Amino acid sequence: MCGIVGAVSQRNIVPILIEGLKRLEYRGYDSCGVAVHQAGELRRSRSTSRVAELDTLVAADRVEGFTGIAHTRWATHGAPAVHNAHPHFSHGPGEDAYTARPGRIALVHNGIIENHDELRAELRAKGYVFTSQTDTEVIAHLIDQLYDGDLFDAVKRATLQLKGAYAIAVFCRDEPHRVVGAREGSPLVLGVGTMEGATENFLASDAMALAGVTDQIIYLEEGDVVDLQLGKYWIESAHGAEVRGRYARVERPVRTVQAHTGAAELGPYRHYMQKEIFEQPRAVGDTLSGVESITPELFGDGAYAVFKDIEQVLILACGTSYYAGSTAKYWLESIAKIPTSVEIASEYRYRDSVPHPKTLVVTISQSGETADTIAALKHARALGMPHTLTICNVATSAMVRECKLAYITHAGVEIGVASTKAFTTQLAGLFLLTLALAQVRGHLTDEQEAAHVKAMRHLPVALQAVLALEPQVIAWAEEFARKENALFLGRGLHYPIALEGALKLKEISYIHAEAYPAGELKHGPLALVTAAMPVVTVAPNDTLLEKLKSNLQEVRARGGELFVFADADTHIESEPGIHVIRMPEHYGPLSPILHVVPLQLLAYHTACARGTDVDKPRNLAKSVTVE
Ligand code: F6R
Repeated sequence: MCGIVGAVSQRNIVPILIEGLKRLEYRGYDSCGVAVHQAGELRRSRSTSRVAELDTLVAADRVEGFTGIAHTRWATHGAPAVHNAHPHFSHGPGEDAYTARPGRIALVHNGIIENHDELRAELRAKGYVFTSQTDTEVIAHLIDQLYDGDLFDAVKRATLQLKGAYAIAVFCRDEPHRVVGAREGSPLVLGVGTMEGATENFLASDAMALAGVTDQIIYLEEGDVVDLQLGKYWIESAHGAEVRGRYARVERPVRTVQAHTGAAELGPYRHYMQKEIFEQPRAVGDTLSGVESITPELFGDGAYAVFKDIEQVLILACGTSYYAGSTAKYWLESIAKIPTSVEIASEYRYRDSVPHPKTLVVTISQSGETADTIAALKHARALGMPHTLTICNVATSAMVRECKLAYITHAGVEIGVASTKAFTTQLAGLFLLTLALAQVRGHLTDEQEAAHVKAMRHLPVALQAVLALEPQVIAWAEEFARKENALFLGRGLHYPIALEGALKLKEISYIHAEAYPAGELKHGPLALVTAAMPVVTVAPNDTLLEKLKSNLQEVRARGGELFVFADADTHIESEPGIHVIRMPEHYGPLSPILHVVPLQLLAYHTACARGTDVDKPRNLAKSVTVE
């Protein structure tokens, strides 16, 4: 999703801005741009192509400068087109927006301004000219209108009028060595220059964009406005106690962050998604490494007291992370015997619910920056549920900072937009949480604990055995590539796995796929089953196996073609109309972690056979930082 980089320096910062955008590229975007202060004017280049193309453009246009901002845009308001790409310039009364001489404010923005229509009408009435359909251009004009020789002051006054979510970076033609940033609802970090004798400072939506430039990072907080100049910075907060106007100066800690460069090598793989699927034995192993025995303190100091106090669990997440939560509900209720509900974050925050103060609110997020999940977490807290825990892949993310307790998964940076290793490591973290809660609640004997820990240790080997099924899955994928619809079936804790399999297939191959609990077929979806409908089924050898077999017969009786991932001792055999891939042996409760892998491979190879852009599927972004 959208990315921001900004810099004030005494060297040409265009290469730093472009490199920063490249590091943010994997998140998904549809246009990009850069603007600098050059020879007393605002200069910019924008493109609806890749950042590499923008790089060529800035070189051709000789765009260079000591102060500047850059952006990757994922369209919300207005189509992906050059005139909607950021940076946006202000076009004040009397300034001709369409001539070479631009206005005086340049701005980039992540987030959504909800009152943009109202502000646009007011600004139009004052003579401002709009050249895009974006909500962002409104902010540039508003700052210009409030500008009275002090950009920091104008940004502070402008943000007081904005409703919605934003992270912005702004500079002004009349103040050549200054960039101002502000955030409310979208992440923004300040990077303090570290070069010898450096007087430079940076802004970015993610510390990763500044890897190789500085590791000295300040995570700006909600309501912060930051003034970046040569050799100094100053932060004020709209939520401060010591009020000056509505802002007060605040100190934020500088952290040393080993940001991953994001420039992971593909090695022998065709796509990052394939690489990440094959990294799962390592990722799950790393996530569970050091877990010799189960203790609540794995989730942070004070976890025991929290786990002892709570009476129920509420899981909040989106997309694939939501399916991880949906799987965990089965574990939490059957092993830890604790009532658990799982909510789609974007729904939960807007519905009336009945809060219970003794709830453990668990958020699950790969990125830790998903706007819907963060908002749902804050909503739950505002309803009086103070016990918060996150299962998250990014230790420095907003989610980890917002929650009291955390378990950091060690999937490593996930570049493919379709989540794979993040999902299996989330499941590993959630299984640990289940065991820790079971222990505190007296539902885990020492023998059970030892058996579970042994099985978790075995997971990397078990995952490796599942990955060896790839050639068989490729044969199926060639057939799937010719289909336009698919059904996925699962039962019990494998129903969320079927949902995840269907999501993977639709998001990267663009085949319409739906998942159902197998017992639900006869209540409607069976009407869709014909010889043209492939029905993918996850068939572990669990207590629901015989029921599942009956459901499969219902499909066969209607001519449906079955593709079954079956455990060894299920006695489901290949025959006309039934294709079976035999799963390696594994340990019961952890079976979802293994059964999802062939579904990831099926989606991946089907997408490859259809020739889609696997790592950057259309319309999707990696880190969903807008509502
Ligand atoms: C699908 C996928 C998304 C994310 C969702 C939440 O493959 O990746 O559905 O799971 O956008 O993202 P995080 O986990 O970063 O909160």
